[in-house]
Amino acid sequence: MTRGPFFAPESGGGAPPPWGETAVVGKRLPRIDAYERVSGAAVYTLDLQLPGMLHAAIVRCPHAHARVKRVDTARAEAMPGVRGVLTASSPGAAMPWYQGQEGALSTLFDPHCRHEGEEVAAVAADTPHQAHDAARAIVVEYEELPFVIDAERALDDSAPKVHEWGNRLGPPRVYTRGDVAAGFAAADAVVEMTFRTPVQMHTPMEVHVSVAQWDGDRLTVWDSTQGVYALREALSEAFTMPLASVRVIGQYMGGGFGSKLELGKYTAIAALLARRLGCSVKAALSREETFLVAGNRPSNVITLKAGAKKDGTLTAFDARLMGPVGAYPTGATSGYQIGDLYLCPNVKVESTNVLIHAGKARAFRAPGFPPCNWALEQVIDALAEKLSLDPVELRLKNIPAVSQLNDNAPYTSTGLARCLREGAQAFGWAEARGKPKEIGVLRRGVGVAAGMWGYGGEPNATAIVTLFADGSVNLNTGASDLGTGTKTVLAMVVAEELGVPLERIEVEHADTATTKYAPSSGGSQTVLVNSPAVRAAALEVKRQLLEIAAKQLEKPVAGLAVSGGAVVVAGEGGARVPFAELKGLGERQMLLGVGTRHPHPEGKVALPFAVQFAEVEVDTRTGAVRVVRFLAAQDSGRVMNRFTFDNQTFGGAIQGMGFALSEERVLDRQTGKMVNANWHDYKVPTMLDTPAEPVSLPIDPHDTECNTVGAKGLGEPAHIPSASAVANAIYHATGVRVLEAPVTPVRLLPLLAARDRRA
Ligand code: MOS
Repeated sequence: MTRGPFFAPESGGGAPPPWGETAVVGKRLPRIDAYERVSGAAVYTLDLQLPGMLHAAIVRCPHAHARVKRVDTARAEAMPGVRGVLTASSPGAAMPWYQGQEGALSTLFDPHCRHEGEEVAAVAADTPHQAHDAARAIVVEYEELPFVIDAERALDDSAPKVHEWGNRLGPPRVYTRGDVAAGFAAADAVVEMTFRTPVQMHTPMEVHVSVAQWDGDRLTVWDSTQGVYALREALSEAFTMPLASVRVIGQYMGGGFGSKLELGKYTAIAALLARRLGCSVKAALSREETFLVAGNRPSNVITLKAGAKKDGTLTAFDARLMGPVGAYPTGATSGYQIGDLYLCPNVKVESTNVLIHAGKARAFRAPGFPPCNWALEQVIDALAEKLSLDPVELRLKNIPAVSQLNDNAPYTSTGLARCLREGAQAFGWAEARGKPKEIGVLRRGVGVAAGMWGYGGEPNATAIVTLFADGSVNLNTGASDLGTGTKTVLAMVVAEELGVPLERIEVEHADTATTKYAPSSGGSQTVLVNSPAVRAAALEVKRQLLEIAAKQLEKPVAGLAVSGGAVVVAGEGGARVPFAELKGLGERQMLLGVGTRHPHPEGKVALPFAVQFAEVEVDTRTGAVRVVRFLAAQDSGRVMNRFTFDNQTFGGAIQGMGFALSEERVLDRQTGKMVNANWHDYKVPTMLDTPAEPVSLPIDPHDTECNTVGAKGLGEPAHIPSASAVANAIYHATGVRVLEAPVTPVRLLPLLAARDRRA
């Protein structure tokens, strides 16, 4: 077997050998903080109350595009409880914001407002209600300007400009390999379709919120953030302060989905008000504000053409992707899967990112991947039909062993084929696919979609494990737990290596002053980056512990193991010494292990794969679609905790069902304003909208090369193909290909009627 350089022998200080069978890791265990969460004891940033803390409210531009002519704060400043206001002319408020290629494109309170909700002024008061009343009392005079909210129209030269240099975020990015024309000439079947996907909102349960406090020249920020270290860096730049003088603390957190990876203006506003007023200041967005300014998944228009031979071998892909990033730069599209999911020698992908007068997009659960998957997996489905091949079979014909987008480097493992085969088996694909069912006006059908994620994680994290004299343990990690179970999984890694019961492990996390570097919890990297560092730290403690025990027991280290909080001597009737009875541990009071993440394997690519199956029921009279069965076969490498694995998998699938069927930002054409910026009109699936018993099927290829725990990341791949599987099932059920998501009754009914007219 080929082994990467990080498998240096343990004695040489290299990475430990990969796990085989594990005793704790992989089990179905509840969260270590489940009690705090369900009892209400858990303090989320939104719950934080500091003595004398003030509350901020932000005045926002009500127009899609406007210029601020005048801001009058006099009346607001005289209102009860008001402690201070902040406008563009306040000291420190001229902060540059939103980086473009040639410097900042905007400022904290930019008088040129380029989207509804853009920040104009802020106020701090004793209570949130006083702050919001005062914000409403600030008089702002606007000059309304023409706007463009439609991405295709924004590309037209006559469209209003978002920035003076235009609405294109650079020239289109083009990727090519092989000869696409020759590929199509060699094809027996060609399919070309144009797809549209919606703007989806992150809607984390906990809104975006920060609390800021100054102590002299030092700044402390409590934030509902996916990465305390990344936020510290952004704050140190914004306030031109040394990293060491900024402390960011993450508390319990109610979700992020990518929308909490960036420094938000509300955080800077809280910090500026706190510095000026000498108090701590909380800035919490309302749900409506999060819809306007805290990011979204951009819509995409994707034209995809694909060709294949009779036997299903893919010959060419030609794709054009276009998406609106909002008013400020970020990425809107990703054609990654077109170039890497299937073997295909001839590929062209052209991506265009365009600016419109709407809130800026942010990373959203596998940025760009679900929209691209919506196109790719429906085109593959249509190709299969054209070639009279089963959709599972067609995919199995085109499984790559190498990453074509990474110089054809081999994967450390790929379970894509197994996900297809074993998933189909477990779902009962062959039987269900035979014939769509008709029950009166209802039509039932099944669909499949595959997907992959394209990021292998930042190979850098440090963790500390400390074993105390009584055998209890502290695990210190900078990782944020978005609510996904990070703390639990990392504690299980310690329990695995140190033989300590989970309840003896305290996790200290997400605080730049007291916990060690971890990259942001995003990109599906949290487990696969942090677990190996935690494992290395635990093994270092174990090494010291066994040395102490060997001395006391006069046995060689090789004959000792740890289990149930004790050192166990191998062999029949071997002695068992609880850690607390080890004299050497009592003398030192603590054993400390520092673990760092080893580099990725050289010349190889480690990525997760997924194949998901859906059965839908379409009411042909109302156009309503219900997902009645769902199975997710996930190759994310090792399952760390089957419980959190299922949580991630079902959460991802359900968010995908929202994308497929109901979630969509609606901007009013007349005003450019969002008309459904609330949880009533913006339809996130509820439990009643989801299948009663979704099934997860872990496909673990026992990857011994990706890293020392064998995990490849789950949060994003669990979500990438979900919507496409639903779309393909709708097609199977009805014969109607719905190119535009979400598939609401309003979209589906006319298509069903047109189909009936044709029949
Ligand atoms: Mo994710 S979109 O990297 O939280």
